[in-house]
Amino acid sequence: METLFLNGNHKDDCKRAGEILRNGGVVGIPTETVYGLAANALDPAAVRKIFAAKGRPVDNPLIVHIVSLSQWAPLVKSVPENAKRLAERFWPGPLTIILEKSELVPGETSGGLSTVGVRFPSHPVAQAVIRAAGVPLAAPSANLSGRPSPTTFSHLCADMAGRVNALVDGGDCGVGVESTVISLAGECPRLLRPGGVTLSQLREVLGEVDVDDAVLHRLKEGRQAPSPGMKYKHYAPKAEVLLVDASPEEYSDYVNQKCASELETEGKAFALCFEEDISLLRAPFLGYGSRYSSEKQARLLFASLSHLDELGAERIYAHMPSKRGVGLAVYNRMIRAAGFSVINPRGHYVVGLTGPSGAGKSTVGACLQEAGWPVIDCDALTRSPAVYDEACIGELRKAFGEAMVQGGRLDRRELARRAFASSEGKKKLEEITFPRIMRAVKETVSSAFSRGSRVVVLDAPTLFEAGLDRACARIMVVTAPVEERLFRICRRDGISPEEARLRFSAQHEESFYSARADYVIDNSGEGCISKALAPVLRELEEGIGEARV
Ligand code: TXA
Ligand code: MG
Repeated sequence: METLFLNGNHKDDCKRAGEILRNGGVVGIPTETVYGLAANALDPAAVRKIFAAKGRPVDNPLIVHIVSLSQWAPLVKSVPENAKRLAERFWPGPLTIILEKSELVPGETSGGLSTVGVRFPSHPVAQAVIRAAGVPLAAPSANLSGRPSPTTFSHLCADMAGRVNALVDGGDCGVGVESTVISLAGECPRLLRPGGVTLSQLREVLGEVDVDDAVLHRLKEGRQAPSPGMKYKHYAPKAEVLLVDASPEEYSDYVNQKCASELETEGKAFALCFEEDISLLRAPFLGYGSRYSSEKQARLLFASLSHLDELGAERIYAHMPSKRGVGLAVYNRMIRAAGFSVINPRGHYVVGLTGPSGAGKSTVGACLQEAGWPVIDCDALTRSPAVYDEACIGELRKAFGEAMVQGGRLDRRELARRAFASSEGKKKLEEITFPRIMRAVKETVSSAFSRGSRVVVLDAPTLFEAGLDRACARIMVVTAPVEERLFRICRRDGISPEEARLRFSAQHEESFYSARADYVIDNSGEGCISKALAPVLRELEEGIGEARV
């Protein structure tokens, strides 16, 4: 088939795409999530062409795209109050809402189901094309069935040129993973697919939201898929994807070792890593954003998988993303691309525990200790002779002068006075002490693992500053409202609110910590910490596998 290439920035091209769609054709269009393969949702013959072009099983329903709320009501039996609230908050945007369908929607579009998913995309080109078509558009992601969804025009062309009537260039997709799919057709709202709208955002509007088991796990044998797309292999590049669940240091060690041996034998093994891993890797790599930016990971994930195919990768060692916020969507795609196999190279986890002062790290630490996980107090270790050994004291003396040492012992007060007098002094102190702190922490961690622990917690107020986050597979942040933290600190340290505020002003904002967290434990009021910790404990216990190094 001859494919027409259109430019989404040109009004006439959008009109042309609309015309083709109105006449029963199939057109690849950009959306803010991924590129879609569109046809008139109300025309069974046109919709069948989508299935043919994608090679998609016909029982897998399509999402219907609209460009005004008035297009919604005719497609569904009714629009309940909670659906309206969702639409008001998240449309136009990356959210698909499933409701009972009306007679207007043909069985071809709904995959034979009695429900239909509707979405109002925010991408201006998508909107222009739907408007020009004058009909709602059914549009699945524009990949060949089973492959990563296209998020760039060149990846769209690679999959669909020659298979459809036209392809519209709208640049790179901003979100990068498909829309969040929520069903309001059952008793309780149910998340079927995580996406750019997060679970906590949905809960803010709806209250309770169930998460379908298939979001995180392989569909159980014999269980009917609530969303037919869940039962098929998905998002997979040609290369084999292995998902490695480990800290940056352990991930890099594992991949360096694997790639070194595979380069000689099979070759073509790559790391799909985070920015933070790059300096530690000796293997060929492609970065997919910062460990601490799920949004960027989402934006780059599919394009990276396709790019690795272009590079001829045969095996991809992907670094496990966080499951928090948009991370849940990244994880959901990655785990499918990896066929649900996860490698925890050493069969254990180091969990970093941090947060602003007064939030209650030690209270949470005590709960974790009670649950059987050793908690290492990094602050205490920092002051220990394991760090301030003879060589260290020698270097400090050289850097800060003889007055550092009184009667053969380090005068901490004098050291602090000199080191913290200037930013260079602080830097120098850190240069001397941080590597030693790191070493001492690692020795303590190793000995806890060698005694049989499978999860070890590092309680470290300066986890990030000291670079200890590189040793952590997960990061847990404890938070509490600032007034409450203030009150606790004044009581604990016997200082005035002014002094406490001054101390806070020298520290990171709470958002610094929560942006880097895999788990946030809210320790406000008389909240029940053990209840908040239960799902974390469960998730970690589930993830521990056999060591494979
Ligand atoms: O962001 C997106 O949603 C993109 C762009 C193009 O809008 N579209 C997209 O469509 O991802 P598709 O077909 O690749 O994925 C739709 C998913 C499938 O897993 C499908 O099974 C599920 O949503 N789905 C659609 N309608 C459903 C329904 N009525 N009930 C349950 N699941 C449904
Ligand atoms: Mg798809």
